Amino acid sequence: HDLWLRYHALTTAPAGIDTRQAVQLVAGPGSPTAKAASGELIRGLGGLLGKAPELSGAVSRDGALIVGTPASSPVVAGLHLDTRELGREGYLIKSVVVNGHTATAIVGNDDIGVLYGSFRFLRLLQTGHPATGLDLRDRPQVKLRVLDHWDNLDGSVERGYAGASIWDWWKLPDYLDPRYTDYARANASIGINGTVLNNVNADPLVLTPAYLKKVAALAGVFRPWGIRVYLSARFSAPIEIGGLKTADPLDPAVRKWWRDKADEIYRVIPDFGGFLVKANSEGQPGPQDYHRTHADGANMLADALAPHGGIVMWRAFVYSEHDLDDRTKQAYNEFKPLDGQFRDNVLLQVKNGPLDFQPREPFSPLFGAMPKTPLMMEFQITKEYLGFATHLVYLGPMWEEVLRADTYAKGKGSTVAKVVDGQLDGHALTGIAGVANIGTDRDWSGSVFDQANWYAFGRLAWDPTQSARAIADDWARMTFAPDDAVAKPIVGMMMASREAAVDYMTPLGLAHLMGAGHHYGPAPWDDSLPRADWNPVYYHRADKNGIGFDRTRKGSDAVDQYAPPVAAEFNNLKSTPDAYLLWFHHLPWDYRMRSGHTLWDALVMHYTHGVDEVKQMRATWATLDGRVDAQRYAQTAAFLAIQQHEAQWWRDASIAYWQSLNHLPLPAGYAPPA
Ligand code: GCU
Repeated sequence: HDLWLRYHALTTAPAGIDTRQAVQLVAGPGSPTAKAASGELIRGLGGLLGKAPELSGAVSRDGALIVGTPASSPVVAGLHLDTRELGREGYLIKSVVVNGHTATAIVGNDDIGVLYGSFRFLRLLQTGHPATGLDLRDRPQVKLRVLDHWDNLDGSVERGYAGASIWDWWKLPDYLDPRYTDYARANASIGINGTVLNNVNADPLVLTPAYLKKVAALAGVFRPWGIRVYLSARFSAPIEIGGLKTADPLDPAVRKWWRDKADEIYRVIPDFGGFLVKANSEGQPGPQDYHRTHADGANMLADALAPHGGIVMWRAFVYSEHDLDDRTKQAYNEFKPLDGQFRDNVLLQVKNGPLDFQPREPFSPLFGAMPKTPLMMEFQITKEYLGFATHLVYLGPMWEEVLRADTYAKGKGSTVAKVVDGQLDGHALTGIAGVANIGTDRDWSGSVFDQANWYAFGRLAWDPTQSARAIADDWARMTFAPDDAVAKPIVGMMMASREAAVDYMTPLGLAHLMGAGHHYGPAPWDDSLPRADWNPVYYHRADKNGIGFDRTRKGSDAVDQYAPPVAAEFNNLKSTPDAYLLWFHHLPWDYRMRSGHTLWDALVMHYTHGVDEVKQMRATWATLDGRVDAQRYAQTAAFLAIQQHEAQWWRDASIAYWQSLNHLPLPAGYAPPA
């Protein structure tokens, strides 16, 4: 349950550190954040080196650590390091010589930068780097790096597969579970600086005074770790807890209610982050209930928060059963015309794809389409559509794929990452959110490998250009062991895992074929839900002749929501990558793929490949028996067995269903469904 902050003793001492004596830690007293930084170094080095560092006022032997800001530490100031480019949250780590002794300086302009730098230094040691010749600088590329908890006030977690909510509302504010600090430490270690405590399907009660006290208590725990709290606000709260007759965003009484509410919140939480809002989506109330626009709604809340420096994260996840247009087009239809109408302290929070956190989707066409509005990325860390907590699916490659996708909004190289980090359109207010996979399970995330998704999210939010593989490598070394014999096979499994899941669940651009409601397991035949756009059959459109959703100009024309070069690529069957084939095209079963196989044969091969990949993952894991502690070995082995069984289930059920429509035989050498 220490996550990636295990700090188990290193078997070989890092170069530059003499493990026969305690490391000198030159750090002044100071703010709670400064104390958190030295506390973490004491804990981390104590574990890694077997000897806790000794606090010291000056460097008097080799291998010392000098930690602090130029303003708070004369020793740091004496190093005359250039910290101008570091901003508030950045840091530098540099090997220096002081009083004739070697030392490592961990320096920021603010204590929070020093804390991030301290975690980075520990990471270097955890992953087997030497403590010599260091000269690195880093700062976050994205301003708001936020976890969204879909936690309900009754302790349940929507789409949570790791136990109950870790917020013990019942005992708050008087009892502060030590877990809250562990949570904050883990987040700070990967640079997460915000947390939305409650579900987007929000209970207005969280905005009442009794709950605000509890929220304030949590904010107090998180503050030293650089983490601000945010709340999901229910748009109709003025009616439900305010006694008003309306929640119309242009009604003066409603506006005043929200202003007063914001004032009240900031009285108890002076650094409150702001609101996250799901409005007019899946039955939630919103401004359209009063014939107002999403901009009217967002701006009203933004105006209430602005005097306090708060922000609004307004979600773009909207679609309606009354709208007959392709569901994947609806968010763009709704929001694109509103570009330029939002206040400066509003971010539009957009899911990575236009549908809903599928194993694979093309990037949302909103990225690049709203240059006047900061678009905040919303990823889902919890694996709602990816096998919950048992399937080993490392999401790094999926997020990397989206972030590196080219929107062509301002010509070639206009990647989604550049939209999100503000570079493309010059936004200073930027953000990335991830729907958390955290709960009361002892391992926090429902499985050891799901911890990697939390970890990777934080690392990519800090710097969206990082490589998923490098992040997996760090995580594997920190979580298991810093040696290649353990880390390499684990990274190999992780890197193959996402494509495996795509293959055994929804290959070649298929999507949303999971069991209705719970979204676990195959149900491509399902058309039982009351809304057409919730049913798998809406998405695959298969019959005896063919399969796929025609989103070209001959079909729903979703392609034209992308910039012209991207639209042209996806509109044309010949240039559409196989990965998105059936997302954009409806094709006959005997369509000839680039590989020369028919579409049907290729589909069967992909399903089978997915299953084979899981078998391979199991075999790889088996080679680690004895190299990984017994408990984590056994859990992963058992989960991989479940995954293999269920990958087979996905394959067999899907193939059997398609065969019930197309009556085609399996390609030679491919076994029939068991
Ligand atoms: C998905 C998910 C819901 C969630 C919704 C959202 O549809 O199944 O549980 O509320 O996304 O993101 O708002």
